[in-house]
Amino acid sequence: MRRAFLAMPGNEVLAKQLASELPAQEITLEWRRFPDGEAYVRICGDVLGVHVFVVCTLANPDPQAPSLLFAARTARELGAAKVTLVAPYLAYMRQDKAFKAGEAVTSACFAAWISQYFDDLVTVDPHLHRYAALSEIYSIPDRVLRAAPLIGRWISAHVPNPLIVGPDDESRQWASEIASASDAPFVVLEKLRSGDRQVDVRVPDLARWKHHTPVLADDIVSSGRTMIAAAHGLKGQGFSNLVCIAVHAVFAGDAYAELAGTFDRVVSTDTVPHVSNAIALSDLICQGILDE
Ligand code: R5P
Repeated sequence: MRRAFLAMPGNEVLAKQLASELPAQEITLEWRRFPDGEAYVRICGDVLGVHVFVVCTLANPDPQAPSLLFAARTARELGAAKVTLVAPYLAYMRQDKAFKAGEAVTSACFAAWISQYFDDLVTVDPHLHRYAALSEIYSIPDRVLRAAPLIGRWISAHVPNPLIVGPDDESRQWASEIASASDAPFVVLEKLRSGDRQVDVRVPDLARWKHHTPVLADDIVSSGRTMIAAAHGLKGQGFSNLVCIAVHAVFAGDAYAELAGTFDRVVSTDTVPHVSNAIALSDLICQGILDE
């Protein structure tokens, strides 16, 4: 089946890379906003019988989602044989439970929505905490790719004597995988969150690792408060030269500036385009697509 990539706004670089690596055709999306803010979406190309990969990393999902669904539905209406979502960062995975009566479990709502418009999904390290697998909320097949081997390779090449630090229990899965990929020890800290930007991180006595370079690793860095609280705890024990690694550089508001002022180095994979991207995942994503 002929393959083609369709980039949602802001995803053109990745779509181009994927199209040239596979190789596959690129289809242009004409997109703009009407004066009242509604989206205009047009697929400029023939998708009849084509497997269309819609590329859209979802770091800004609320403005992005309607256009994404319009594009997917239109591809189907134009006769696409299959429509796959390639979302290196998959949004709305963190509200995986109603903590208070009446709260929307947005992970499940968002998944139901996406599942209606796409035939399958390719993503990198989704935030699976209370869900064991995406299939608990997505009714379409998924291919989940893991960035840990590439992050581990980056650490081995750039950080002497690393100690991988997961800032909270949710990060254990990433910290342990990254530690084994970089052949380094790892520890996990304890986080207490009392608000969106209010977190306390308890650091156990790490004296036995005092000659190591802490590499704080997590899947998502959003407000940056978790990483910053963890860094302060480590500095309080005399550690310096701290490195922060995010799989998904969401970096809300002034998070990146604050992180850059706290850590010696802040790096990320390129699931979300950002100046901190140091670990490219296009080969991994290509492989994920070919392994279909
Ligand atoms: C937990 O839900 C995630 O793994 C991250 O720890 C969390 O998203 C970080 O959020 P923030 O950067 O806002 O502290």
